[in-house]
Order: sequence, then structure tokens, then C-alpha cells
Amino acid sequence: METKTALITGSTSGIGRATALKLARGGVRVVVSGRHAERGLQVVEQIRAEGGAAQFVGADLRDARSAAELAAKATESIGGSLDILVNNAAIGAGGPTAGTDESTFDAVLATNLKAPFYLVASIAPAMAARGGGAIVNVSTLAAELALPGLAVYGASKAALDLLTKSWAAEFGPAGVRVNSVSPGPTRTPGSEALGEGLRQLAAQAPLGFVADPEDIAAAIAFLVSDEARFVTGATLDVNGGRTVV
Ligand SMILES: NC(=O)c1ccc[n+]([C@@H]2O[C@H](COP(=O)([O-])OP(=O)(O)OC[C@H]3O[C@@H](n4cnc5c(N)ncnc54)[C@H](OP(=O)(O)O)[C@@H]3O)[C@@H](O)[C@H]2O)c1
Repeated sequence: METKTALITGSTSGIGRATALKLARGGVRVVVSGRHAERGLQVVEQIRAEGGAAQFVGADLRDARSAAELAAKATESIGGSLDILVNNAAIGAGGPTAGTDESTFDAVLATNLKAPFYLVASIAPAMAARGGGAIVNVSTLAAELALPGLAVYGASKAALDLLTKSWAAEFGPAGVRVNSVSPGPTRTPGSEALGEGLRQLAAQAPLGFVADPEDIAAAIAFLVSDEARFVTGATLDVNGGRTVV
């Protein structure tokens, strides 16, 4: 991966941060992104301190325009071309169906589905024109199972998994691979609020433990590497076996 470049959305925290660190350690030049510049710059500093290359490009991903702007700024900041895109930024808002207001519904769909769609629309054609690229969409166990209170969130990610297949078909002939990674319960700043619920959810899977962000980053790093050159349109469950029982 020596000369490759990557944009990882939501890499100021959790799984995205672990993925940025992992790819940078493999020689990839990384664009760290998110709303919070201070946390993003800390990730960039850590990558540089380890001898890697990274920069921060801020974005609040909520519509087609913000996605297109991030794509343009990230591409420019990294020197003109992106080889890897990880659609990781997401909102995990939840609750019972009857109590979900329209603004929450719209925000979840906008960040989790619309923004990845327009990022791919902005970035994949250039990958295709160069004859290759790799995209990973970060999904969730809640896209496969009816987890209580996660209907809208799960639906947004289930739709993203369908886009993984659509894009694999659309861009595959030009050498661009597109896959999903579907994490189970993972200890991150974003999942902290679930408290004991995270451990209880993890306990329902055969492996029974809560993942570290690095466990998910390892799967993402595999899928964007040339080791996965024959893998596209797949969803890789990284959930301790939760979906087999
Ligand atoms: N943790 C789990 O148990 C788990 C399980 C299954 C799936 N996942 C998935 O894994 C991914 C990462 O989750 P995580 O647990 O690592 O969450 P996290 O620690 O809360 O990190 C979420 C990241 O997304 C960014 N983000 C959120 N809204 C954004 C917006 N509007 N615009 C731009 N960036 C935004 C945040 O950056 P800023 O705050 O700087 O904006 C942050 O870097 C998500 O797709 C999530 O659905 C997580």
C-alpha cells in the first residue's frame, strides 16, 4: 500500500480513528475527517509522530453538497487522487418508532446514507478513470438483526449495504472494489453511552466479548488492500459470530 491515499470519514474517533492509524502504519497517506478539528488534529499528530503521512479536512456530512465539498478538498489536499474511501461517519440515534421525530429520521438518513452516496458519486468516477480503487462502507449488526430502538439507524445501514452491491456492480468493470464491514458491539467513544448494554449485546454472540476499534480496523484494512483483489460486493461480519446463532 506504499503509495496509496485514503479518505476515512469519521476518523476523529473510534473505528475511523483506528482505521486511519492502521492504514497510515501500512504506508497509506491518510485524510482524517470529521466535524471536530481538535480531535482530528490529534489523530494527524499521532500518525505523523509514528512516521506516517496525514492531514485533516473538516466536514459536517449532512447532504450532497457537504459530501462533494469534502471529496474535492480531500482530493486536493492529498495531491490529486484518492485510492481508498472508507465511509465510516454515522449517527447512531435511536428510540422507539412512535417517538422518533422527523428531524432525527432525516439526520440519520442524511449522514449515514445520503453523504456516503454523494461521496462515492464524487470520488468513484476518478478511481474508475485511473483503473482502480477500493471503497469500504461501515455498516452494523443492526442492519441484519432487529435490535430494539435501532430501526432507523439499522435501515440506513441496510440501505448502505445494498449500495455496496450496486456500486460493486457499477464500478467493478473499471477495477473499483466496494465492500461493507459490519461491526458488532465495539468499545468506542460513540458506544460509551450504551454502558452495560454494550456488554450484554456482545454476550449474545458465540465469542461473547466487546470488540476494540482495532478489531474492525483490521477487517477494513484487509478489504482495501490488494490481498482482497478478488473481493467485491461483500459484507464482512465482524461481530463475534452474532449472526450465526
Ligand atoms: N461502536 C459500535 O459498537 C459500532 C457497532 C456497529 C457499527 N458501528 C459503526 O461504526 C462507525 C463508527 O462508529 P464509532 O463507534 O467509532 O463512533 P464514534 O466514536 O462516535 O465516531 C463517529 C465518527 O463519525 C463522525 N461523525 C459523526 N457525525 C458526523 C457528521 N455529521 N459529519 C462528519 N463526521 C461525523 C465523528 O466525528 P466528529 O465528532 O468529529 O464529527 C466521529 O469521528 C459508524 O458507522 C457506526 O455506525 C459502530
